[in-house]
Amino acid sequence: MSQYQTELLAPDAAGIAQAAGLLADGHIIAMPTETVYGLAGDATNDVACARIFDAKGRPRFNPLIIHLPSLDAARQIAVLTKEAEALAKAFWPGPLTLVLPLRPGHGLSQLVTAGLNTVAIRIPAHPIARALLSALPFPLAAPSANPSGRISPTSPSHVMAGLKGKLAGILDGGTCDVGLESTILAAGPPPRLLREGGLARETIEPITGPLLTDTTPGKVQAPGQLSSHYAPVAQLHMDSNLLDDRAIRIGYGPGMASDLTLSTSGDLVEAAANLFSILHRADALANERGATEIHVAEVPNRGLGRAINDRLNRAAAPRAD
Ligand code: TXA
Ligand code: MG
Repeated sequence: MSQYQTELLAPDAAGIAQAAGLLADGHIIAMPTETVYGLAGDATNDVACARIFDAKGRPRFNPLIIHLPSLDAARQIAVLTKEAEALAKAFWPGPLTLVLPLRPGHGLSQLVTAGLNTVAIRIPAHPIARALLSALPFPLAAPSANPSGRISPTSPSHVMAGLKGKLAGILDGGTCDVGLESTILAAGPPPRLLREGGLARETIEPITGPLLTDTTPGKVQAPGQLSSHYAPVAQLHMDSNLLDDRAIRIGYGPGMASDLTLSTSGDLVEAAANLFSILHRADALANERGATEIHVAEVPNRGLGRAINDRLNRAAAPRAD
């Protein structure tokens, strides 16, 4: 296994150039995106991709999402249907990933495609990610920068806590605005929702019409959607009334006695942005206090609340390992 120093790289021209150099040499780094931090490597380089799997401890059958600077770059690697073009024009750059048929001669490592004839593509909106991608002659494979099965990172300190020593550097882009992974759609026709995420279904459906859903935990369309994903170490319970004061209590909405809160005002966008950092903090608190359970208040199942509940359900699911 590779051992690295894991440097924090400044979000300026020098830091981006240093990150680009490391990536061109086949190393892996964490990059900020508006959703969560990604563990990035050259998607055309087998060694770089193998390092990503190694660092995450990820099952090999799981294909890797790739990141590109522009729609034109996406058209060179994948085939965009009329539906995909409309979605790309409406939501890229942004928190949407499209699963598209690969174009012959795409040049991606077989570790990225995992033998599928499709590829998951995202064009992030984060200015640091965009500057980095524009400086590179290759796409970046970048799954979320957490150990496999653990909570996604929304800050450089989360990445350090999970993966220190396993990646060459972390480009410091501060805290992620959206805080939830991208929404994943198979472009179709007809388009299908594979993972709820940072772009709400209600925002997509005016473009696509009613979306077919294929996000049953365990039944795998986006293969990383395993039921016990996003797990903290302490056992999570959902929709709890927060009365058990031996547990770490996570509230939602006003007037709730809790240790931590997703949003005091009951704002789903704020709750989404806070979700993973609150789970990280709840886990640390549980560890400090010797608590074995985390209880979370009910979060309404609309808009980004659906993606929040999807992540909480997976975090609460029985462990595979
Ligand atoms: O917001 C995001 O999407 C973040 C940032 C870093 O971009 N990335 C992320 O990556 O969440 P990851 O690997 O944690 O989730 C991507 C999901 C995985 O469940 C993977 O199995 C699925 O996308 N995926 C990748 N390629 C696929 C394909 N060809 N068909 C279906 N699902 C695919
Ligand atoms: Mg992930």
